[in-house]
Amino acid sequence: MHLQHQYDVLIVGSGAAGLTLALRLPQETRIAILAKGPVQEGNTYYAQGGISAVLDHKDSIESHIADTMNAGAGLCDPQAVHFTVENGPEAIQWLVELGVPFTRRDEKAHQGEFHLTREGGHEHRRVIHAADSTGKALETSLVSAVRARDNIDLFEQHIAVDLITTERLGGKERSCLGVYVLDRGKGRVEVFRAKLSVLATGGASKVYLYTSNPDTSTGDGIAMAWRAGCRVANMEFNQFHPTCLYHPQAKSFLISEAVRGEGGKLLLPDGEPFMQRFDPRAELAPRDIVARAIDHEMKRYGYDHVLLDISHKPSAFIEKHFPTIYRRCLELGFDMARQPIPVVPAAHYTCGGVPTDLKGRSDIDHLYVIGESACTGLHGANRMASNSLLECLVFATSTATDIAARLAETGAPPELPEWDESQVTDSDEEVVVSHNWDELRRFMWD
Ligand code: FAD
Ligand code: SIN
Repeated sequence: MHLQHQYDVLIVGSGAAGLTLALRLPQETRIAILAKGPVQEGNTYYAQGGISAVLDHKDSIESHIADTMNAGAGLCDPQAVHFTVENGPEAIQWLVELGVPFTRRDEKAHQGEFHLTREGGHEHRRVIHAADSTGKALETSLVSAVRARDNIDLFEQHIAVDLITTERLGGKERSCLGVYVLDRGKGRVEVFRAKLSVLATGGASKVYLYTSNPDTSTGDGIAMAWRAGCRVANMEFNQFHPTCLYHPQAKSFLISEAVRGEGGKLLLPDGEPFMQRFDPRAELAPRDIVARAIDHEMKRYGYDHVLLDISHKPSAFIEKHFPTIYRRCLELGFDMARQPIPVVPAAHYTCGGVPTDLKGRSDIDHLYVIGESACTGLHGANRMASNSLLECLVFATSTATDIAARLAETGAPPELPEWDESQVTDSDEEVVVSHNWDELRRFMWD
């Protein structure tokens, strides 16, 4: 019998959703956070464009709501949209107080104000950002705040394998008691017991052959919740980002939508602009429309990519606003300040997931789901750019409030059965697993 870990709250996932929740919980709460690799590895770290919120007097809550519903093609839940947008400014204020280094304007008349960029579907400039590496700035700030808290234990290289529920132990009701977790260092599955468990494991875009996502995005939390009896919704609405760099060594490196927000144009390889033929908003139509237009043109002409051109802007502007993208393109032989760059769509965001209410509660008692793993109803059929990090922050906050109120009345789970290793397939099957992975990703792409 191994020692069983015991916490008030177990958070599976160390991205924007999981870390924000941990920091928003009362400091006397005993919290464990699991990450399946290094703490920062997940979608959050790679976010580029920014976080949308109403931060300018020319903008309005009503406009952000209308744009979100419009991008979601009539399938958003209005209650979730209102809730997220209304809580946006507070979420950003919290990050500013945490010290996230957002980019500020440098014009004399606006010095000190935050720079807001634009992305597809947004009628206003409302995307706050840290140049073109907002996710890195955000994740780094959240991780250092978490490391400074002595009520939070961080377990890197720990993979959640399955939920432990009362039903699985022969009970009638379905309630979550904890999680079986593979400690990669020890090569052993251990029991983590918790009064309340939270899945914040990110999306599933890695099940497609070409994706902007890191290898962590394999939908683990969604699968675990499904196996334990939760509903799963809207998985057919996987979002494809229109512009990933087309280069064999780029591994679908993202070219932020903010490049189009700041004037970038899409062209066919012969130099002809085409977006106006598909939507009057052209390059700034919601991203499903732009991705489908590119796919259509590539298939129609047999092209293997299209072009994105922002070379008409001064190079100082490009280097200030897009330093990461500019540098990466240069490494691969493209100077975006002088020439158009080749781009293709790639799987980017899981609009569906585990259905939750406004407090992050799932179908299973004592189990919450937040961030990209959840289906809150905010995104409908297509997420508007930069609404995802906002959703992570807002729902992590409301979940923290709900958990804080429930903790006192929730008892600790009893000792739980150990993981049954005899059911695990032998490791010489690894070649079959990797073959299946490849087949699955090609099948999904086709
Ligand atoms: P993630 O940040 O993906 O974190 C998931 C965590 O779960 C990781 O810590 C991982 O280790 C852990 N995990 C997963 N499975 C397990 C398991 N079985 N056991 C233990 N741990 C596990 N959105 C915006 O709003 N604005 C942007 O500008 C933006 N740009 C983007 C750019 C790129 C390249 C990408 C890929 C996405 C972008 N998005 C953007 C989307 C946004 O980044 C994500 O939706 C968001 O970061 C998801 O946060 P999360 O906390 O839910 O999950
Ligand atoms: C981007 O910078 O284009 C990504 C924005 C997002 O996914 O919200």
